[in-house]
Amino acid sequence: MKSAIIAKFGGADSIKMVEEPLPSIKGSQVLIKVGYAGVNPLDWKVRSGSMKMVTGKKLPQKPGYECSGLVSEIGPAVKDLIPGDRVIGYTGLKGGAYAEYVALPERDCARVPETIDLKVAAGVPICGLTAYQCLTQRGKIAKGDEILIVGAAGGVGSFATQIARILGARTTAVCSSANVQYVKDLGADAVIDYTTEDVYSCGLSFNLIFDAVNAHKWSEIKKLLKPNGIYVNTIPGPVEFIRQIFTGLLPGKKFKTFLMKSDRGQISWILEKMAAGEIRLNVDEVFPFQEVAEAISANEKMRTRGKIIVEVDPSIN
Ligand SMILES: NC(=O)c1ccc[n+]([C@@H]2O[C@H](COP(=O)([O-])OP(=O)(O)OC[C@H]3O[C@@H](n4cnc5c(N)ncnc54)[C@H](OP(=O)(O)O)[C@@H]3O)[C@@H](O)[C@H]2O)c1
Repeated sequence: MKSAIIAKFGGADSIKMVEEPLPSIKGSQVLIKVGYAGVNPLDWKVRSGSMKMVTGKKLPQKPGYECSGLVSEIGPAVKDLIPGDRVIGYTGLKGGAYAEYVALPERDCARVPETIDLKVAAGVPICGLTAYQCLTQRGKIAKGDEILIVGAAGGVGSFATQIARILGARTTAVCSSANVQYVKDLGADAVIDYTTEDVYSCGLSFNLIFDAVNAHKWSEIKKLLKPNGIYVNTIPGPVEFIRQIFTGLLPGKKFKTFLMKSDRGQISWILEKMAAGEIRLNVDEVFPFQEVAEAISANEKMRTRGKIIVEVDPSIN
C-alpha cells in the first residue's frame, strides 16, 4: 500500500510517498481502508523536528493523525465494529493516517452516522476532542459563562465556538477580518477582529479564555479574566506545566495547558451534534493523496478556516 512518511526533519521536501506492506491486525484492532485524512499543525511540527522531545529522533516517522474510512477487517477481540462500518479514527502520536490502510485499536475509532460525509468526518477527531476537552474538562465551562475564544476560525476554534454555544456560554470570538462573518455564522455572540481592534480594550471580563492558537502572553491575557477565571492554551511545554502547577497552588486566576486524549464517548457526542445540524465543520481545502506535502504546507500558513482534508481514496463514502 502507499503511505506518506517523514524521511528527514525539515521542510515540505521531507515528506515522501513509499510502498509498504498492509498492516496486520491483532486483538482489539480494526483495519481501516482510509478514505480521507485530516491535516493538523502537528503534521508540520513533527516534520520540522520541533517535536523530537515527544515523538523521538528516529526516522522515518509518519504524519497523519486522524482519518475516516471503512472497516475492512477486525481483530478477534473487537466487540462493536464490523467490516463495512463507516468510521473515524485517531492514530495517536505514531501517525500513519496518510496511507491506504491504517490499523487502530477499536477504542480510538467511532462509527460515523450515515448523514455525515466521510470527507468532513475525517477532520473531527483531533479538533473536536481538543475543543470539547479544553472547554469542559480543563475550562469547567458552565451555562451563562462569558468565554473568549482566540483563534475561533481554525479547526479547534471552529469546534470550540459551536460547542460553547451548545453548552450555553456567551462567546466572544477572536479572528481576522476575513473570518468575522464565518465565526458569526458558527454562533459567536460577539467578534473581535484582531487586525483592527485591540483584544485588551474589549471592556469585558471572562470566566474562561480558550487560546486555541496560543496568540497571547499569560502576563497580558490574564488581565481579561474574572477573579477566579481560567485560561487554557493548547501548546504544552515545560514553562506551561510549571505555570499550571504554580497557579493551581494559589487562589485566583488559573493557567492551564492541555494534552488531548482519545475518548470514544466524547467523539460520539460531537458526531451526534453534527448529525443533528448543531455543529458543522467547514472543509477549507481538499488535496489529492499525492499532494500530502502541499496540504501540510498549506496548513502551516496558519490561515486554515475549519480544516484541510487529504483525499486518500475519494471513491469511499
Ligand atoms: N495540545 C494538544 O493536544 C493539541 C491538540 C490539537 C491542537 N493543538 C494545537 O492547537 C493549535 C491550533 O490548532 P488548529 O488545528 O486549530 O490550527 P489551525 O486550524 O491551523 O489554525 C488556523 C487558524 O488560526 C487563526 N489564527 C492565526 N493567528 C491568529 C491570531 N493571532 N489570533 C487569532 N487567530 C489566529 C487563523 O484565523 P485568522 O486567519 O482569522 O487569523 C486560522 O483560522 C496548534 O498549535 C495545534 O498544534 C494542540
